[in-house]
Amino acid sequence: MATAAKSTTSSARKSSGRKRRTARRDPLSIRLLKQDHREVEGWFDEYEQLEDDAEKLALFNQIALALKVHTTIEEEIFYPEERGDVEEDMLDEAYVEHDGAKKLIAEIEAMKPGDEFYDAKVKVLGEYIKHHVKEEEQPGGIFAQAKKGEEDLDAMGERLKARKEELMAELGGAKSH
Ligand SMILES: [Fe+2]
Ligand SMILES: [Fe+2]
Repeated sequence: MATAAKSTTSSARKSSGRKRRTARRDPLSIRLLKQDHREVEGWFDEYEQLEDDAEKLALFNQIALALKVHTTIEEEIFYPEERGDVEEDMLDEAYVEHDGAKKLIAEIEAMKPGDEFYDAKVKVLGEYIKHHVKEEEQPGGIFAQAKKGEEDLDAMGERLKARKEELMAELGGAKSH
C-alpha cells in the first residue's frame, strides 16, 4: 500500500456546463405530468422540515389533493390512451401502484399529526411515490414509451390540463392549492 496521497477525486467535477441537447422538448402532456411530479416531491421534502402539527396537516392535505388529482387524470386519460403504445405490464403495475398510494393516503387521512406512525406513513408515501415516478420517467419507462407511440401528446396535454382544473375545484373545494 504505497502512497495514495494524490487523490484525484476532488477534480472529479461533473461537466455541469455541458448542455444536453439530445432530447427535444417534451410534449405538453409529459411536461404537465412531470411538473406535478416535481411539485409533490418538493412538498414531501418540505414536510420533513416541519415541526408544527397544523402545518404538517395543511401540507399533507395539499399533497393528498395533488396526488388524487394527478392519479385520476393519469387513470382517466393518459394510461388508457397509452394502451397499445406502452407495455401492458407496465401500465398494469402503474394502476396497482396508484391503488397502493391511495390506500396509504386514506390511512393517513384517518389519522392526525402527532399520532404514532403519522410521520412515518407520510415518509413511506413519499418513497412510494418516488418509486412510481421513476417507473414513469426512467429511460424506457412509461413516458419514454409514450413519446415513441402514436398518440398526439400535445393535444392530450390540453385534456389533462382541463380535467386537472375541474378536479382541483371539485376535490379541493376550489382552493387554489
Ligand atoms: Fe405520474
Ligand atoms: Fe402515475
